[in-house]
Amino acid sequence: MPLRFIPWALSIVIAVLTGLYCFIGPGGHLIWLLFALFLFFSWIGFRDLIQNQHAILHNYPLTGHLRFLFEFIRPEIRQYFLESDNEEIPFSRAQRALVYQRAKGDSDKRPFGTLTNMYQPNVEILLQKGSPTASPDLHSLRVTVGGSSCTQPYAISLFNISAMSFGALSANAIMALNRGAQKGGFAHDTGEGSVSSYHRKYGGDLIWEIGSGYFGCRTQDGRFDPERFKTVALEPQVKMIEIKLSQGAKPGHGGVLPASKVTPEIAVTRGVSLGEDCISPASHSAFKSPLELCLFIQELRTLSNGKPVGFKLCIGNIADWFAVVKAMLESKIYPDFIVVDGSEGGTGAAPVEFADNIGMPMRDGLRLVHTSLVGVGLRDQIRIGGAGKIVSAFDMMRALVIGADWCNSARGFMFAIGCIQSRSCHTDHCPTGVATQDRLRQSALNPMDKSERVYRFHHETLLAFADMCAAAGIKSHQEIDEDLILRRNPQGKLQPLVEQLIKIPPGALLGDQAKQILDEQMPGLGKQWQEAKPSVW
Ligand SMILES: Cc1cc2nc3c(=O)[nH]c(=O)nc-3n(C[C@H](O)[C@H](O)[C@H](O)COP(=O)(O)O)c2cc1C
Repeated sequence: MPLRFIPWALSIVIAVLTGLYCFIGPGGHLIWLLFALFLFFSWIGFRDLIQNQHAILHNYPLTGHLRFLFEFIRPEIRQYFLESDNEEIPFSRAQRALVYQRAKGDSDKRPFGTLTNMYQPNVEILLQKGSPTASPDLHSLRVTVGGSSCTQPYAISLFNISAMSFGALSANAIMALNRGAQKGGFAHDTGEGSVSSYHRKYGGDLIWEIGSGYFGCRTQDGRFDPERFKTVALEPQVKMIEIKLSQGAKPGHGGVLPASKVTPEIAVTRGVSLGEDCISPASHSAFKSPLELCLFIQELRTLSNGKPVGFKLCIGNIADWFAVVKAMLESKIYPDFIVVDGSEGGTGAAPVEFADNIGMPMRDGLRLVHTSLVGVGLRDQIRIGGAGKIVSAFDMMRALVIGADWCNSARGFMFAIGCIQSRSCHTDHCPTGVATQDRLRQSALNPMDKSERVYRFHHETLLAFADMCAAAGIKSHQEIDEDLILRRNPQGKLQPLVEQLIKIPPGALLGDQAKQILDEQMPGLGKQWQEAKPSVW
């Protein structure tokens, strides 16, 4: 008999012996229990042997199940026992701990010095001044969004809740986030699932995101409905409107909320039918080219009575981005803001190739957007938000140095309301009730308690940011300059972080030298600029 059959064979032997002892001998509770247990093991082994779906179980009856058990508990074993403090999967234990400490109001101080090897490549440092200033007032850490065509500009906090829809997140999670945003005076992006009653309950400022499914503003066949749009856009709680072109974790990919997850509340909020899959197509039907996007922006601004209108994207094909810039120049219609999402961003669910290998990371995309707007002289008109693994004050500072005006965080705020990074958002089995529609699971998340954590995480992060400004001698975040952060390059030399990214001088794309200047920054970039056409994508 092969050795691998021995555990199963032993189970049978023990089952037979204990069975004899029970039926013929004196028996006893413990022996009956052992008999039942080993009879069960014998039956499992027998079932494994006769099935032909799992080769491992067929070849290793009974013991083969250990493999599935270990696979099942591997993430927890890894997270609790094996993961180092700085290993990012995708957020390190140190990053998560910082959010938990700030959210709970625990001390976020660290004893004894840094755990980072300061001489390794990619280490980043902020340069403090000889004479630090007073910290900027937290209320001043805002930026006004709204160009010359906008009549209801919005002063957005430098740190806000990034787009996550009701559907991806539970009702209790949405309430906790929105109440925290209301208390702290910052913005809560609805995500593409539209504005639900849970977003409205506490009155926190909303950025209403419109995706390609036009949820909350769609006709029965899924096209954009201006009248429905107007009804929601005019609500005072809606401060800005964001057209979602793409999302870093799955750029160029639509989305499906399966019919099983479309609850009556989600159906009402999104304006979709109950019992049917809720589909976000990969592209928009309201516009098909950069010029049409500009016209759509203008239409939304008019319909919303002059609220700031912008778009969110993850940069991919660079000529496509340049085509948008050219469309702005040609139409003279400018978005009030652009949010740049990075491929390192999160999602409820994405195909693995899209999550791992498609789209530009935030720092590269953000820099390209910022510097090309400088290059065409439009940077003053358009504000830029950045999203992509921003959870600390230094992450914020880095994004601002590269070119952002403000920052958004999605998973940071998920941690604040209890997410433990179990990465089960797509299964509806979220252990902390954050990313699930299961009523029982989400009842574990107390919106009142967790909203305080949202408030504190935001507040403490801004406090840390203000302290960093003071150390750098900066009285206002508007004084942050490009040379503030150095990064150690792969050769071991410290150099300004932005020198590792592209830089287009002011107005350079408006002259005849555009191609040459772009090619100096990145070979082939000039050709992309030349080939970009505002009328085609
Ligand atoms: C659970 C979840 C749901 C999301 N849903 C949306 C969405 O509806 N629309 C969108 O534009 N981005 C969505 N995102 C992306 C985030 O808004 C954000 O851009 C990205 O996760 C980067 O931020 P982070 O690294 O702070 O998570 C979602 C992210 C997560 C984690």
